[in-house]
Amino acid sequence: MAIEGKFVTLDARLYDYVVAHGHNADPVLAALADETAAKLGRVAGMQIAPEQGTLMTMLARAIGARHAIEVGTFTGYSAICVARALPADGNLLCCDVSEEWTAIARRYWRTAGVDDRITLKIAPALATLRALPLEPCFDFAFIDADKSNYRNYFEEIFSRTRPGGLILIDNVLWSGEVLNPANQTGDTRAIRDLNDFLAHDDRVEVVMIAVSDGLTICRKKP
Ligand SMILES: C[S@@+](CC[C@H](N)C(=O)[O-])C[C@H]1O[C@@H](n2cnc3c(N)ncnc32)[C@H](O)[C@@H]1O
Repeated sequence: MAIEGKFVTLDARLYDYVVAHGHNADPVLAALADETAAKLGRVAGMQIAPEQGTLMTMLARAIGARHAIEVGTFTGYSAICVARALPADGNLLCCDVSEEWTAIARRYWRTAGVDDRITLKIAPALATLRALPLEPCFDFAFIDADKSNYRNYFEEIFSRTRPGGLILIDNVLWSGEVLNPANQTGDTRAIRDLNDFLAHDDRVEVVMIAVSDGLTICRKKP
């Protein structure tokens, strides 16, 4: 049951207020968002929201992340947010299947001055993950690709995350469709199943926050 006073329903005006006051504006990210929208139209909706990007930078910086991984890079917005938080000798492994979209990302990574700490792997992410050594090498991970593989991505990354490391999962509210019983698409079910699973997974501390399309933050227990 909803508890009165514990949440605010955002309308467009209130959301604009959140964005205007709740994140650090950034010209490189703004230019990337503009170019992505101009070139790709509706597809640009896949990009993470600006305040989510700021949150991700802050989290990665707060835990002193050095090695990070991202599944689902698109035109590179979230990658910039994470890479910026890493030290000069840190590394972000970006996984995507699109040469076209990540060509835009590469350009903006150079502009943002983070291209030296990003490795981009163009291949199905599950194959990339399974080829990595089974060692706790990651401090920070972001999952934002094909939803049907979310649980697989989570498990492969969990096995390679150090205790105390963070795994972030995007789109966990799926525009509210997680609550629509008539929606039984593979993507919706995959998100619902992972949400149900993580709520009871003793291996992690978990918090789901209603930023943008919903973001779950998991901390691997020491
Ligand atoms: C929602 S977008 C990522 C948005 C990105 N995080 C950002 O901030 O702009 C999802 C991306 O996942 C990629 N993708 C889809 N299926 C994939 C797969 N099997 N392996 C790797 N990447 C995949 C798509 O090419 C797309 O770029």
